[in-house]
Amino acid sequence: MLQQRQLGDLTVSEIGLGCVGMSAEYGAAHERNESASLNTLERAFERGITFYDTADCYGPFTNEVLLSKFLGDKREDVVISTKAGLVRETGTDTYVINARPEHLKTACTESLQRLNIEVVDIYFLHRVDPCVPIEDSWGALLELQQEGHVKHLGICEATREQLDVVHRMGAVTAVQSEFSLWTRDAEEEIIPWCEANGAGFVPFAPLGRGFLTGTIASADFDDDDIRSTNPRFAREAIAANQAIVEGIRTVATNHGATPAQIAIAWILAQGESIVPIPGTKQVAYMEENVGAATIDLTQTDLALLEALPPTVGSRY
Ligand SMILES: NC(=O)c1ccc[n+]([C@@H]2O[C@H](COP(=O)([O-])OP(=O)(O)OC[C@H]3O[C@@H](n4cnc5c(N)ncnc54)[C@H](OP(=O)(O)O)[C@@H]3O)[C@@H](O)[C@H]2O)c1
Repeated sequence: MLQQRQLGDLTVSEIGLGCVGMSAEYGAAHERNESASLNTLERAFERGITFYDTADCYGPFTNEVLLSKFLGDKREDVVISTKAGLVRETGTDTYVINARPEHLKTACTESLQRLNIEVVDIYFLHRVDPCVPIEDSWGALLELQQEGHVKHLGICEATREQLDVVHRMGAVTAVQSEFSLWTRDAEEEIIPWCEANGAGFVPFAPLGRGFLTGTIASADFDDDDIRSTNPRFAREAIAANQAIVEGIRTVATNHGATPAQIAIAWILAQGESIVPIPGTKQVAYMEENVGAATIDLTQTDLALLEALPPTVGSRY
């Protein structure tokens, strides 16, 4: 069974489940199957995962509805993380930032309806809006908290300066940013900020959008897959970045583990208040990923992973 970790004063399983791929972004549309996703969610719960990450723009909207079908009598036993501030228009694949207070207020009401719950456990500002003072966006989230619609607040992809501003207004329970063996920017300022301020850190895309699992050898993506336009998944970048996977595979072989498990175990080793949310719609991948919690990386392993080659290609 999984251990528990603290995101501020919110207790969650040490590994969560990222749900976006059940409704969008990864693979072709025909590969996303509601009953298979519900099965993955059920099995994740049985394996001890209590932390489920969604957002209003996943789908859009359908991912929250999917989670509502899973919740049922488990509501009190799980932590639901959802977000607002990124908008994806139905039928398009582009996201637009909108963190205007009135939008965030409406978005929260609608997320509660779709999830069919009374209160969101942790509500993330999905992106800081360059067109809106951050105090206004965070102020709206604080009002939602005071009104009892959300319990805890988090923020995604914020800078240290932005974290200082919002944390002074009202506690940040967790910061969510991309972090993995091939995206390590957060360790410079953001993870230390979280440690210094009693906040948790939730790495998204901990598997490098699937690349670090060692299962992506070519740029053969469906048009509907966000990786089809991501520079890190261009043909040349995929070829160059195989050297990263090979380094991870060496450590994995020593443990009788998979590269995905090592990528997650490495994140778990980076701090006590860090809770990765590997994303998958597949039971087998979820089971494999949960297995990362049993792996103790040695100093030699950590040194090998520290020495992985630099990543080729920007992350967006
Ligand atoms: N705050 C933000 O701005 C933000 C941005 C992105 C994501 N997120 C959140 O973070 C979560 C995790 O990130 P992510 O899902 O984007 O990326 P990820 O977890 O790094 O990778 C997901 C991809 O890896 C594949 N995969 C998972 N486990 C695998 C395994 N053991 N072996 C082989 N392939 C495996 C999945 O395949 P299948 O598709 O076949 O399952 C999917 O294609 C998301 O689900 C979402 O909740 C937040």
